[in-house]
Amino acid sequence: MSPQERIQQRRRYLMCRPDYFTVSYEINPWMNSTRATDTAKAVRQWQELHDTYLRLGHEVDLIEPIPGLDDMVYTANGGLVIDGVALGARFAVGERRGEERPFREWFAAHGFDVVEPVATQEGEGDLMLVGETILAGYGFRSQLDSHAEVADVFGREVVSLRLVDPSYYHLDTAVCVLDPVQGLGGVERANIAYLPSAFDERGQGELLERFPDAIRVPAADPASLELNAVSDGRNVVLSPPVTSLDAQLRERGYHPIHVDVSELHLGGGGIKCCTLTLRGGTS
Ligand code: ARG
Repeated sequence: MSPQERIQQRRRYLMCRPDYFTVSYEINPWMNSTRATDTAKAVRQWQELHDTYLRLGHEVDLIEPIPGLDDMVYTANGGLVIDGVALGARFAVGERRGEERPFREWFAAHGFDVVEPVATQEGEGDLMLVGETILAGYGFRSQLDSHAEVADVFGREVVSLRLVDPSYYHLDTAVCVLDPVQGLGGVERANIAYLPSAFDERGQGELLERFPDAIRVPAADPASLELNAVSDGRNVVLSPPVTSLDAQLRERGYHPIHVDVSELHLGGGGIKCCTLTLRGGTS
């Protein structure tokens, strides 16, 4: 049986060059502030990711990096942008609060309607649009009470999922949205790949029911940020090494593309974390 032909969707992403990337504090289990980081290497790897998106025909906007904000490269946490509306982030961690304003100012300067959040929530890192629904993680960073605000701002169903494994502290470390397509016209439901063991029992049940055809990554696999990947509906950009996820994607007709962002993994973030999707608005 030949896999189904997947349709690529052209995306617009916001990225931030890691000119000031380092690990000077520890706010997730991947970070070790006593280990040296190589900023030049981080920039090279990031550039490769950036150029990969351009090669695939996507549009990439850039936000200026700010000295002292080590984690600004992880733009997914800067907000959630749907239909030209940008809900800013309110970080749970003090180390990143300095990013809130620059991101909001960038959205406003680029024609998005900015909403300042009341509740604590770390943007697309914990809030992922799948089809017309928003999957929302909580437990480590974003707070459950932010989900009602998100539902209200975007007028969409929000599915709350509790994260239970500290290594997968943001939803986008445990879920990859494979078909970020809105309005599929009922042809096929948007699908995901995910790590069931990152969720409590209720969350696992919810995901199983909603995504019967999902790719489920076994808990026994060594902890990695492979699910922190970006799909355009056809091409899935993910970090090496090549694992069984690669084969599973190919079987379903996706086209995996590997980009090494090992240096950025030292901050506890990968490809998806470095990529904020801009939906709607004028470019
Ligand atoms: N060091 C960053 C933090 O802990 C990494 C963020 C990763 N971003 C993500 N969307 N998962 O906040």
